[in-house]
Amino acid sequence: MKYLPLNEISEEMFLAHAVFGNDGRVLLNKGTRMTPAYLQRLERMEYTHLYVYESPDEEWDCTGPLSDKIRVEAIRVLRESLVRVVERKPLNEPLISFVIEGLLKDVLQQEERVFDIIDIETPDNYLFNHSLNVAVLSVLMGRQLRLDREELKEIALGAFLHDLGKAYIKAALKKLKALSAMDTVQIKQHAKRGFDILRTSFSLKVANIAYQHHEREDGSGYPLGLIGVDIPISSKIVATADSFDAMVSNRAYREPLWNDRALKELTAESPAKYNPAVIRALRQSIALYPVGSVVELTDGEQRVVVAASATRVILQNPKQLSDLLELPVTEFSRITKRVL
Ligand SMILES: [Fe+2]
Repeated sequence: MKYLPLNEISEEMFLAHAVFGNDGRVLLNKGTRMTPAYLQRLERMEYTHLYVYESPDEEWDCTGPLSDKIRVEAIRVLRESLVRVVERKPLNEPLISFVIEGLLKDVLQQEERVFDIIDIETPDNYLFNHSLNVAVLSVLMGRQLRLDREELKEIALGAFLHDLGKAYIKAALKKLKALSAMDTVQIKQHAKRGFDILRTSFSLKVANIAYQHHEREDGSGYPLGLIGVDIPISSKIVATADSFDAMVSNRAYREPLWNDRALKELTAESPAKYNPAVIRALRQSIALYPVGSVVELTDGEQRVVVAASATRVILQNPKQLSDLLELPVTEFSRITKRVL
């Protein structure tokens, strides 16, 4: 299994995950053999990368902490919530709460599970995937910080809905290459707008997550320029997860960073911008080398990451799939670089 750019995917390869249309229906099933027509279709949908198997017998999984069932359901609910906001209707609080319970169950049932996959995204699904990723990552981080189930649920809700204030802002909904000064001013309003939307259906703590997810420890954030002591831990977690996911995502104006680089950059900005305990929780909640990446070892050998946690990776020999090498975190220094 590899995470490959579309132009390197050939007709002998098989999809390692299902591809969903914008309505949430499955377009291509896991295991589908790639054809030129499928590849063209995926290119038109602006996919840049996919997870693929080179043989139909490969078994390693790239689902991540969240099952496809909850992922599809959550994206459907988020899409519907955005429409409700635009139409000035109240949010469907019981439905959102139901889907967040499913997310919590998925994410928390596996003790060792971390954020271990690279996102498959398109400009069209970016906001949805991003919201979902931030929710999953925030829950994982909250667990590391030993928050209780009730707090984790509030964090998941706030993280899932943190960008809902963007519903009114056209420029914010798609990834644009360049933003005008007007766009930037409008985008900065999304935090307060998100707060106002969430406050009508959820607790103050949940609404504050949307309000405060761009605040920074040293007061350099927006909209209020709060300093660390005035920012609740739930908002700090979501702010950090939000920054991390934005850094590792494929943005129009720059290449995505690998997980290890993004973590390094965020760590360098702690304690000035990010809380050190929250950065530690982030480190424990992500795979430095996510599943599907190809890495080079000190002896020059290239291997594919087929499973990853915060403390170990399993590396497969791409030429002989049964040849697996397990590296504990203490031996991560044997990985010299990311090849793909
Ligand atoms: Fe935001």
